[in-house]
Amino acid sequence: MSPLNIVVGITGGIAAYKAVGVVRALVLAGHDVHVVPTEGALRFVGRPTLEAISRNPVHTDLYEGVAEVRHVAIGQAADLIVIAPATANTIAKLATGLADDLLGNTVLASEAPVVIAPAMHTEMWRHPATRANIATLRSRGVTVVGPAVGQLTGSDSGPGRMAEPEVIVAAALDRVAASASAAAHHPTGDLGGRRVVVSAGGTREPLDPVRFLGNRSSGKQGIAIAEAARSRGAEVILIAANLEVADPEGCDLRRVSTALELRDEVVAAAQGADVVVMAAAVADYRPVSVSDAKIKKDTSDAGLTLELVRNPDILAGLGSEPHPGTLLVGFAAETEPDDEHLVALGRAKREAKGADLLVVNRVGWNEGFASDENAVVVIGANGDVVTRAHGTKLSVAHDILDVVVSELTTTARAATTPKEPEPT
Ligand code: CTP
Repeated sequence: MSPLNIVVGITGGIAAYKAVGVVRALVLAGHDVHVVPTEGALRFVGRPTLEAISRNPVHTDLYEGVAEVRHVAIGQAADLIVIAPATANTIAKLATGLADDLLGNTVLASEAPVVIAPAMHTEMWRHPATRANIATLRSRGVTVVGPAVGQLTGSDSGPGRMAEPEVIVAAALDRVAASASAAAHHPTGDLGGRRVVVSAGGTREPLDPVRFLGNRSSGKQGIAIAEAARSRGAEVILIAANLEVADPEGCDLRRVSTALELRDEVVAAAQGADVVVMAAAVADYRPVSVSDAKIKKDTSDAGLTLELVRNPDILAGLGSEPHPGTLLVGFAAETEPDDEHLVALGRAKREAKGADLLVVNRVGWNEGFASDENAVVVIGANGDVVTRAHGTKLSVAHDILDVVVSELTTTARAATTPKEPEPT
């Protein structure tokens, strides 16, 4: 990795002494490290130590060096910001965007990835306010390392201990590598000006007010595709079936539950879309009737037979109509263990549904669903395997979008055609 310009923020907790190890490891790895301690941090570790270890001057005061607008200069120049330890107070300030010291200003003035290593007493870590602040930061893309479980400053122990310096350093450098690889995938925003519709999650078909027929789709792959498309410049409509996710930044999120609701949203959104990705797991059947009251069990020991009716096949519906200017991407979740048979099932499904591309992934009791990783085979219009991809769901998403972009380019689908306005 080439040398990075790294800001290490240190905040006022006893674990501040361990932050010296983080600074040292980053300097020894060849990076240019600028330490920004809070006033509180300097009660635990001295400025001369930080200057000696980082080999750079250390400032805390927003009102020093005003002529060079220090917080903006440090923030803008940073490739990475690591805050270790991050106290509950600093986490709260970061979550609300408060900038009452040099560190807060530096973070707001920067677009670099932020990695925080929380350290606090267990009760503070578990407090709903801290939980909510951490969730906010995570949803904004902040990487949270730790805290570790173990002996705390007093006689107590539990989660709250700052992660070890080498763990923080490894996570921070990984984060930069991941951002760089995402950037390498879309150097020019190759989906700029395109409208991409993604369905994600799993539909639920109600039986009565408290029960439904559902499936184990976590929606992670679909969300990753939506986020990747967004980051490559697309306007993204994410149709989310039963996902408890925070709104992925910049996507037009439409929440649905049943297959019929999903169908209505997808069909409406597909008008004028350049790409429709059907990553959602759609129930093939729904109960013939939905009981208004909770279904009671029979007093006899007899079983229960549910009568189901077919749901429309949304992808096949879109694929059976001419769809010039819209690339249809289907998914196939198959339990077939043999690779050749898996690909054959994918080919047959692509043809049956009239999809332009079909992404096959193997699923099973322990494969596919809630995992953060995936392995897929993408089948193209003539039945060929266009690509195979495995890795994190985000990297697989980028690989799938690479195929989409190349299809859009080679078939010159509606690249310059002005879009129809969507029905309101
Ligand atoms: N799909 C759909 N509407 C349905 C069922 C599936 O649009 N009623 C879409 C899915 O979103 C996916 C593709 O069709 O893109 C394949 O879904 P999958 O569940 O693998 O296949 P099924 O058609 O349900 O076939 P089977 O369950 O028989 O394998």
